[in-house]
Amino acid sequence: MNFGGTLRVNKFACFTLGFILFLIIYWRTGNAGFPMEKTDLINLKSLLKAAVVAAERGGKKVMDGKSHELNVKSKGKTLEGANDPVTDADYASHCSMYYSLKNTFPKLTVVSEEHTKSGTSCEDQPAIDIEQTLPGNSIVEYMNDELVYVKDVSVWIDPLDATKEYTEGLYEYVTTMVCVALKGVPIIGVIHYPFIPKTYWGWYTKKPSTNMPKATHKEENKEHPRVVVSRSHPGKVSELAMSAYGPKTVVSSAAGAGYKVMEVVNGTYDVYLHATAIKKWDLCAGDAIIKTVRGKMTTIKGENIDYSADSDVKVSGGILVTRFDHQYYVDKLQVVLLI
Ligand SMILES: *[C@@H]1O[C@H](CO)[C@@H](O)[C@H](O)[C@H]1NC(C)=O
Repeated sequence: MNFGGTLRVNKFACFTLGFILFLIIYWRTGNAGFPMEKTDLINLKSLLKAAVVAAERGGKKVMDGKSHELNVKSKGKTLEGANDPVTDADYASHCSMYYSLKNTFPKLTVVSEEHTKSGTSCEDQPAIDIEQTLPGNSIVEYMNDELVYVKDVSVWIDPLDATKEYTEGLYEYVTTMVCVALKGVPIIGVIHYPFIPKTYWGWYTKKPSTNMPKATHKEENKEHPRVVVSRSHPGKVSELAMSAYGPKTVVSSAAGAGYKVMEVVNGTYDVYLHATAIKKWDLCAGDAIIKTVRGKMTTIKGENIDYSADSDVKVSGGILVTRFDHQYYVDKLQVVLLI
């Protein structure tokens, strides 16, 4: 009698067969056994390339717009009473950036500062070839693919940052920006200067663009920090900076949120301080870039900003950007704000 032995062999055979089947299914479906539709996923590396192309396409429209009649309109007043202008270049850049992205990734959620100019249509923008190698950005080709759910991604675009300065011919402040947030956290930021022209990008936890400026930490800067504030309403925020950081604080003003973040990145300023409401399309790309170089952007209370597509587009109460010593500058502000 050998029943026990036969049974053991069969059990073993069954188990082996089952295991092989499991391996085949696992291998065929790729993602931990959960079958997934390909279009529900998006490759962050492709999105980075598309973001660079979109920002540069928008920049071309901004450049072109300069030689036409700007057709400056007011979107109303900002909270500080400054005029908030919009030009045909804002609309043209929006069309190019927004529909370049949407026509390349139809399921992508894109939040833009602008909308299509009423009575016009501009959906017909060429899709972006994400297989192309971007000139000056060959480093991207050495980065790994990273697939995420497209539903977790929100893209924020600013088709023309510093419109007011653009209408005044102060082109050095003008940028176009694209930002990729994953579950509300900014991870890829692109800031393009159409008039230089130059493009900087950062992919948080991975790499910045090879042209990203470097800056060295100087402990003594805390004694006499150089603070940059908004050119259109510098008054109150200068007082705030002086009382928080002391009488040796040097306050300068500049335009464009993208521009100011980059001046903190390159160490021209230690702090970018903004004390009133500001919109997330002005912030997101700079937030991702400053994080990539181990700096920080937070509210003036030190909180992270949520860039989910369904969140409020406005950050009230101000922001603080530093490349070094962020907590020090947050803490100093709290002392003043509590009085
Ligand atoms: C960096 O710093 C210099 C000032 O030293 C400035 O002229 C330059 O435009 C800055 N910006 C960037 C993005 O590097």
